[in-house]
Amino acid sequence: MPSLRRFINSPTTLGSRAKDALVQEHFNAVAQHYDLANSIMSLGLHNLWKKQAVEILDPRPNQRLADICGGTADLALLAQRYRDDGPVVVYDLNQAMLDKGLAKSVRSPFGREVSMVRGDAQSLALADACLDGVMVGFGVRNLGDMDQGLREMARVLRPGGRLVCLEFSQPPSAWFGRLYDLYSCLLMPLVGRVFTGSWLTYSYLAGSIRDFPTAEELARRMTRAGFTQVSWRRLSAGIAAIHQAVKP
Ligand SMILES: C[S@@+](CC[C@H](N)C(=O)[O-])C[C@H]1O[C@@H](n2cnc3c(N)ncnc32)[C@H](O)[C@@H]1O
Repeated sequence: MPSLRRFINSPTTLGSRAKDALVQEHFNAVAQHYDLANSIMSLGLHNLWKKQAVEILDPRPNQRLADICGGTADLALLAQRYRDDGPVVVYDLNQAMLDKGLAKSVRSPFGREVSMVRGDAQSLALADACLDGVMVGFGVRNLGDMDQGLREMARVLRPGGRLVCLEFSQPPSAWFGRLYDLYSCLLMPLVGRVFTGSWLTYSYLAGSIRDFPTAEELARRMTRAGFTQVSWRRLSAGIAAIHQAVKP
């Protein structure tokens, strides 16, 4: 427990291995209730944000897509609504999250070509240039080494292939940012307490959001990781953002 407390106070001060291990502990604890807790904490907004992210990706039939850090497969299943055919891989390190995603895709009329792969986004078991599009939703913030994860996403995209990244962000307005901080520091632990019996479970989420880079900084890091034409759209007064980028 002391390590978890340290993580919550300042996840960015941990080494990348330690962060990866604690992130997995977090998702083991929350997988069972992840979708419902997400809807409660975001007041349903995460569904709208995900729809916008997929619309920006604009999936076409037969494109090879991946939903990296795909968890319970929301983005993958949404992408499949937009096209008749084509494979999408949900790639995630956490078996409990993938199991939930698999159960959802089996029930979904759009789950036919969705497959689950367990692995680390920081060393993807995918060939160079094998994908036309990569989606990542609320994933890069959880990586021990986000820059390495972004480099891997660039590596597996073909030249001209596109990355769409949906992530929490820093609202440009200082007073709104403080209000949002208060909201997340109070509500998120409460949701954790209700669903998992522990105040600490979702405190990680609040800390990781507070410490995440601004939209401008994330764009710079995408460029450094090997992407070009990086642009972004802020969502809901800037509490989240969708970045898009192209593999040159
Ligand atoms: C907040 S959830 C997002 C799930 C889904 N993309 C969504 O938008 O609802 C973050 C996911 O990232 C996964 N994850 C964290 N670190 C990872 C890593 N190193 N490699 C692959 N997946 C990872 C977690 O297991 C979890 O399923």
